Amino acid sequence: MAEWIDACATGDIDPEEAIRFDFGPRTFIIVRDHEDNYYCTDGLCTHEEVHLSDGLVIEATIECPKHASIFDVTNGEVETPPACESLHTYPTRIINGQVQIEI
Ligand code: FES
Repeated sequence: MAEWIDACATGDIDPEEAIRFDFGPRTFIIVRDHEDNYYCTDGLCTHEEVHLSDGLVIEATIECPKHASIFDVTNGEVETPPACESLHTYPTRIINGQVQIEI
């Protein structure tokens, strides 16, 4: 069953930045876009399982640091290959200054 969990404080992430969030064996990224919206996707690139938290965030996209695939963090879709498989995305909400994700 899905549950909401605290991932980080809103102030932990600068605009157009991503941070890694690990929960048990799973790894995610929390992304803050240029308009202060927060998103959560799987943390590993679907191409070769590199951590996306080291990638470049531009508006609501993140570029994989290894081969430069670009993903739309609002829906996980690939915008630029070589990755061809979308990232899973997870609902987010802000409660008392905490970014929560539903996983
Ligand atoms: S590992 Fe991400 S694009 Fe290749």
